Amino acid sequence: MLNLDVIRPQFPAFSREVNGHTAAYFDGPAGSQVPQSVIDAVSNYLAHFNANCGAAFVTSLGTDVALANARSACADFLNAPSADEIVFGPNMTTLTLSLSRALSETWFYGDEIIVSRLDHDANVTPWVLAAREAGAIVKQIDFDPENCTLWMDQYDSLLSNRTRLVAVGGASNATGTVNPIREIVRLAKTVGATTFVDAVHLAPHRLIDVQEFDCDFLACSAYKFFGPHVGILWGRAELLESLQPDKLRPAPSSAPGKWMTGTQNHEGICGVTAAIDYLASLASTVQNLSRRERLQNSFSAISEHEQKIGQQLIEGLQQIDSLKIWGITEEHQLQHRVPTVSVTHDSKTPQVLSAELGRHGLFTWAGNHYALPFTETVGLEPNGTLRIGLLHYNTGEEVDRLLSQLTSIC
Ligand SMILES: Cc1ncc(COP(=O)(O)O)c(C=O)c1O
Repeated sequence: MLNLDVIRPQFPAFSREVNGHTAAYFDGPAGSQVPQSVIDAVSNYLAHFNANCGAAFVTSLGTDVALANARSACADFLNAPSADEIVFGPNMTTLTLSLSRALSETWFYGDEIIVSRLDHDANVTPWVLAAREAGAIVKQIDFDPENCTLWMDQYDSLLSNRTRLVAVGGASNATGTVNPIREIVRLAKTVGATTFVDAVHLAPHRLIDVQEFDCDFLACSAYKFFGPHVGILWGRAELLESLQPDKLRPAPSSAPGKWMTGTQNHEGICGVTAAIDYLASLASTVQNLSRRERLQNSFSAISEHEQKIGQQLIEGLQQIDSLKIWGITEEHQLQHRVPTVSVTHDSKTPQVLSAELGRHGLFTWAGNHYALPFTETVGLEPNGTLRIGLLHYNTGEEVDRLLSQLTSIC
């Protein structure tokens, strides 16, 4: 069980007030808040270790250690077989653009790439651009607009012996749908395709396991899981080693260093370790567990709490006749979604609703959330949806506050 009385005081952001109302953060899908331990890790690095890596003096040596510690923490977080398979970068988009360029050099004219219409554009446009470069063809998996789940049978018809890459999201940042990654990877492997998983939206909600997914690459971003703005790419060692990313001549020629362009955000990377340690601290009372085991305990408690408040949110939204929910709503299907809920109103724009909620200290998001293939497919451009994102730090009381404010606006 999560103890929110212990968790919430760790977040300085939760003491903010807006027009006399305590702030409630439902904007996690655009970036989560951070606990004090993450803030301390960032400032401790800047105060005591600030240096470039690779030199023989104490702050530089300390920086090398900090980066190695962060790689181990990420390997635990993703269940990566080796910490050397962890690449840091500014964000998921930049890492994906770099990977897509490197992969496209291995593609030929007429090869095929499969993406999905339920994805963030960061898992579509990089592949479209890379395919254009190589003369490859891009195919798209559609989704059922009724519940916003992928039409899985389309993989059977679109996969072929020309398929070089299948790119799919772990969870939709617009509708909350959790995709069956293990099954999609299995299908992709039947034709020998490389697989890339965008786990940015999944990471704060479910414990990722790249070995269980059996994918080839996976990317996420620490600012969505209670850390600073740092992107993380995991790839199979042999692929990271054999591919040739764009890099400067003096930069390392082996992985992971050759994937990390320029000097990294060292202070942010220290914050990534702290964010993973924060997550590992949430639900374990027994000593001597490994960090991965503690993360497993934390994420089962996170899932339990999120399922409860997610259901409360969906049931409350269903009471407001003027709202339509985009995504899974049936109680027995709720394990196939995370509590990121998009709604539209029958006359008011998401922007109007979000601004009104914001005046009451309720932080939501309006727009396409860069999930452009989704909003275009269901005809929600240019306004998109009102997105309410719950994370483990949200409470049932906050959900009630949001529902009552929405009821009075709608
Ligand atoms: C599902 C998903 N994928 C990719 C991204 C892009 O991540 P980044 O901002 O780290 O480039 C986001 C950001 O919102 C996202 O939600």
